[in-house]
Amino acid sequence: MPRKFTGMKPDLSVNIAGIKMKNPVMAASGTFGYGREYSEVLDLESLGALVVKSLTLKETRGHLPPRACETPSGLLNAIGLQNKGVDYFLETDLPFLRKFRLPVIASIAGETIEEYEKVAERLEEARGLSGIELNVSCPNIKKGGLQFGSDRRLLQQVVSRVRKQTRFPLMVKLTPNVTSIGEMAEVAVDSGADALSLINSVNGMSIDIRTRKPKLANITGGLTGPAIRPIAVHMVWQVAKRVKVPIVGMGGISSAEDAVEFFLAGASAVAIGTANFINPRAIVSIVDGLAKFLKEQKLKSIKELMGGLRV
Ligand code: DHB
Repeated sequence: MPRKFTGMKPDLSVNIAGIKMKNPVMAASGTFGYGREYSEVLDLESLGALVVKSLTLKETRGHLPPRACETPSGLLNAIGLQNKGVDYFLETDLPFLRKFRLPVIASIAGETIEEYEKVAERLEEARGLSGIELNVSCPNIKKGGLQFGSDRRLLQQVVSRVRKQTRFPLMVKLTPNVTSIGEMAEVAVDSGADALSLINSVNGMSIDIRTRKPKLANITGGLTGPAIRPIAVHMVWQVAKRVKVPIVGMGGISSAEDAVEFFLAGASAVAIGTANFINPRAIVSIVDGLAKFLKEQKLKSIKELMGGLRV
């Protein structure tokens, strides 16, 4: 009996600056904790990679509540980089994550360049870590954070000094809150970034008109979710024209179709953030949806989509 030819499984694997991933869909920093809670509702090995919530040298308590509020098609938040510190991560979270065949990327943050260097230094001994993401774009802290990502000279300094400090592939996460993200991308790459991830959240503010108070205790916050997707696609496209390193695209992706836009604009992988809060299994359905899309398009590999925009 003739068998219907259904074709091979499409190849979703990618290699981002030496980090081998079985599929191109990562969990975005700050939206997946350290994987523990999500491990109860999905197989962590179904992720392409996990970027953990940013680590600082010492425990950081973060901002007072309210820390988040909803906006049209978006989420505004100001957490203030709450985390238990890099040593706790090394002792507790990383050993848990090591049990899975899953590339783990440590996002790092600091108030000074020295703090970034020290966090990177502490991570040198980490077993089972695949890479570092430099968070130079947190909008919610007074010192450091966004300042590093929006000043050419500071960006050059922090990237080159962490580059010297670490043996791991170094990914730099760019902020959209600049005049030219393409320029900042070039600075990061010239200073040693092996990959870029973009975009971090967009500066925003929301006011309760009856109490006349800001909806966040921090007054301002970072906007994420579908509201920012066209901004992110545009920026990935701008950056892809200027640099040769792999780009991890993110910003409001909640479906495979959304993700495809980023690949066509020039991303080599994508990260899912806010969508995880709506559906904790969002990444699983996006990975499945990408395989279906490739089949439908009669493509053998996700790589065939990358930079495929027709203009
Ligand atoms: C926080 C950090 C970020 O990088 C971001 O995009 C949003 C919020 C924070 O911890 O406040």
